[in-house]
Amino acid sequence: MEASEEDEEENEAFLEWLMARTGREVPLQELEERYEVLEELGSGTYGRVVLAEPRDGGSPVVLKLMAKEHTDRRTFLREYCIGRCLSSHEACVRALPVAFESATHFAFAQELAPAGDLCDLPSSPQEGLAEVLVKRCASQVAAALDFMHSRALVHRDVKLDNVLLFDSECRRVKLGDFGLARLQGWPVRAAAGALPYAAPELCALRGADTLELDPSLDVWAFAVLLFCLCTGCFPWAAALATDPQFEGFSAWQGGRAVPPSWRPFGAGAREMFRRLLALDPDRRSPAVEVHKYLALPWVAGRGSEGAGAERGPRHALSGGLFCTTRAVTSCLTTTPGRSGKRASKQKHSSSEGRKADFLVSYNQNFCKIWHHLGMTLILRQELWKKWVKVSRVRGKFPPGQISALVGGGSSL
Ligand SMILES: Nc1ncnc2c1ncn2[C@@H]1O[C@H](COP(=O)(O)OP(=O)(O)OP(=O)(O)O)[C@@H](O)[C@H]1O
Ligand SMILES: [Mg+2]
Repeated sequence: MEASEEDEEENEAFLEWLMARTGREVPLQELEERYEVLEELGSGTYGRVVLAEPRDGGSPVVLKLMAKEHTDRRTFLREYCIGRCLSSHEACVRALPVAFESATHFAFAQELAPAGDLCDLPSSPQEGLAEVLVKRCASQVAAALDFMHSRALVHRDVKLDNVLLFDSECRRVKLGDFGLARLQGWPVRAAAGALPYAAPELCALRGADTLELDPSLDVWAFAVLLFCLCTGCFPWAAALATDPQFEGFSAWQGGRAVPPSWRPFGAGAREMFRRLLALDPDRRSPAVEVHKYLALPWVAGRGSEGAGAERGPRHALSGGLFCTTRAVTSCLTTTPGRSGKRASKQKHSSSEGRKADFLVSYNQNFCKIWHHLGMTLILRQELWKKWVKVSRVRGKFPPGQISALVGGGSSL
C-alpha cells in the first residue's frame, strides 16, 4: 500500500475515533433552558445559525442549530469535530467546546464574527471591493485553506457566504462552515458545492461517477471567489464547455486572446488567476500562491492603498454574468433550503419588506427551476432594483414559463 493511502486511512480512522468519542459526551438539553436567542444570523432547511446568550451569564455565542429532521448524527459530529480541529488556526472560525442535542436539534457553539460574511460587504453592481480589502481576504483565506489542506482536509464549499468578517475593513476574516469538509481522497459526486465555484473536473462528472477529493477543488473555488471580490461578478455560470464565458477563459488558457472579463486585471493578477485556475488540477497552484502577488496591482487603475473608501473604476465587464454576488450565490446553490436560508436572512435584515419578499420568492422560484430541470441559467440581477433579467437560457424551458416562475418584473 502506498504511503498516501496509509495516511488517508489513518486520518479517516482518527476522525472516526474523534467523532465517536465526542458523540458520547454530547449532553441532551433544550436550547431555551440554557440560552436566550438574541438574533438569527442565518437559516435554512439544515436549521439555523443564531446569536444566543447563556442564561447563566457569559458572553453571547453563535449556535449552529441543525434540525435532526435534515441532519444525521454523523454529519453533525463531523462538522463539529472538524471545526474543533481547525480552531487553532487564526483564519478558521473557532468552534467552541460546547455542543448539545435537544429533542429536535443538534447544536454547537462558535465564536461570533461581528461583521457577518463577505456577502454583507457593500459592493455596487459591476464593481468589486477596494483592492486592499480583496488582498486582505485573499491572504487570510489562503492561509486557512493551506492549513486545512496540510491536514488533508478539503473544505468543498469555499464561497462568499462562508468567509466570515470580524470587521468591515477585512483586517480579520476567517473561513467558516465546515459542513461539507471531508478528508482528501474521499469520493466526490457531481453537484457538490455552489455551481459557479465548481472546478471543471467536478462539473464534468455525470451520474454516479466520482472524483477523488483533492485540495485543488478548493483552490479553484477560491480563485472564483477572488474574481467575484475584484469585479462584483462571477466569471461564468458553470465551468462547462457549453458556457461561453468559460469557453473564452479556456481558450485564453490555451494561448488565445484574453477574454473581455479578464482584461481589467494587470499582468501579475492574470498570471495568478491562470495558475490558480489551471484547467488541469495537477497543475493548479496551492492557494498560498496568492501571497506572491499581493505586492502587485491586481486591477488596472485601481490603487492598492487606503481602505474601504477606495474603489476601482466601473469597468463594464461585457463578459461578466452577475452584477451582484450576494443574491446570486444564494440563487445558484443547488439546494432549495440553503437558498431559502439566504433569502430569509435578506428578509431579516432588509428594511424594505417588498424588496425582501421579492428576493424570497425570486430565490425560491429560481431554485424550483434549477432543482427540477437542471438547466443552466445565466442571470443578470441588480440586487437593489426590483427586476431580474434572465439573459441567457439553455434547455427546453419555454420563456413564458420561466417568466411565470421568476415572477413579475422579470424580462427575458
Ligand atoms: N460564527 C458566525 N458569526 C456570524 N455569522 C455567522 C457565523 N456562522 C455563520 N454565520 C452566518 O450564518 C450563515 C450560515 O452559516 P453556515 O455557513 O455555517 O451554514 P450552512 O447552512 O452550512 O451554510 P451553506 O449554505 O453555506 O452550506 C453564514 O453565511 C453567515 O452569514
Ligand atoms: Mg455556509
